[in-house]
Amino acid sequence: MWKKTLIIFLLHSACGKLSDFELPLDNGRKSHTITQIILDHFINISETINVVYTFSDANISTFEGIDTIMMELEQSATLTLEHYTKIHPNMTKQSHNVVLCESIESFNSFLSTINPNYFNFQGYYLIIMPSRLCEYMSDMFATLWSLHIVNVNLLPLTSNDDDFIYTYYPFTSLDCGSTLPVQLDNYRDGKWMEKNELFPNKMKDLFNCTLSVVTFDIPPFIKIDKEENDSPNGIEVILMSVLALKMNFNIKWIYSEELWGEIYGNGDWGTSLQVKVETKT
Ligand SMILES: *[C@@H]1O[C@H](CO)[C@@H](O)[C@H](O)[C@H]1NC(C)=O
Ligand SMILES: *[C@@H]1O[C@H](CO)[C@@H](O)[C@H](O)[C@H]1NC(C)=O
Ligand SMILES: *[C@@H]1O[C@H](CO)[C@@H](O)[C@H](O)[C@H]1NC(C)=O
Ligand SMILES: *[C@@H]1O[C@H](CO)[C@@H](O)[C@H](O)[C@H]1NC(C)=O
Repeated sequence: MWKKTLIIFLLHSACGKLSDFELPLDNGRKSHTITQIILDHFINISETINVVYTFSDANISTFEGIDTIMMELEQSATLTLEHYTKIHPNMTKQSHNVVLCESIESFNSFLSTINPNYFNFQGYYLIIMPSRLCEYMSDMFATLWSLHIVNVNLLPLTSNDDDFIYTYYPFTSLDCGSTLPVQLDNYRDGKWMEKNELFPNKMKDLFNCTLSVVTFDIPPFIKIDKEENDSPNGIEVILMSVLALKMNFNIKWIYSEELWGEIYGNGDWGTSLQVKVETKT
């Protein structure tokens, strides 16, 4: 339990007490932090950076720093700048996204309309927000987790010299499906203090969490013996067990009467073969 207490304490000292920093960005320093994060962590992986803003067109000028950021970045990358409600129908699927959020409403509204044809949910997300949204960080991560977006960092803007960046780890030794905000690093005088990886692989070790796997009888891939209440057999079961061993998770088999399901555009699965995370007790 000490771990959790420590994390909450850090969060409070770093985020809760800071004086609020409202948009617009007041000087070049903040935009430099953002540019630096993007240059250090996005550019080498991808040539295109997708900047999405979630407030009205009329208010884009209030995020003055965005001009500086776009100008600095333009020298190293291809940029797209879109309002989330006006995504160009020809936009290709984006993996490296910077999202500018003004309010919790605009954040929720963006995520409720996010379309997997244009956004790779397994991609990387940097969400820039005013520090008054700090108190919602856990809710924000919960919404992101419901969409299985895990490579995501929140960057609250403050008027302080340090910038703190937060993420969440859905699988930990304490919890399965945790959305607790964790401070990843802080940026001061052009340097990261902890030098932590900003987009660590969070799915390498699932800490023996239990995933419910819904399936049905389809030999030789999956053979269910109704007599025995054991796990099923078959090729896919073996593959799943190898995966479970490698990624350190438990499988709870659930048998479905329905056969194949459908994966909907919003990333939800129709019927069979669903995977769900059970919480630790
Ligand atoms: C990106 O490339 C630059 C120049 O080659 C290098 O200095 C920097 O360390 C790289 N960043 C990452 C995250 O690999
Ligand atoms: C634009 O910004 C002003 C001032 O922050 C705010 O009152 C207004 O609600 C914003 N408009 C929209 C559509 O977000
Ligand atoms: C979208 O792409 C199609 C085919 O690639 C092209 O014909 C069309 O003009 C494009 N639309 C816009 C608005 O660019
Ligand atoms: C992993 O979880 C399973 C089921 O909850 C349990 O039986 C097993 O002992 C756990 N293994 C470890 C190493 O904790």
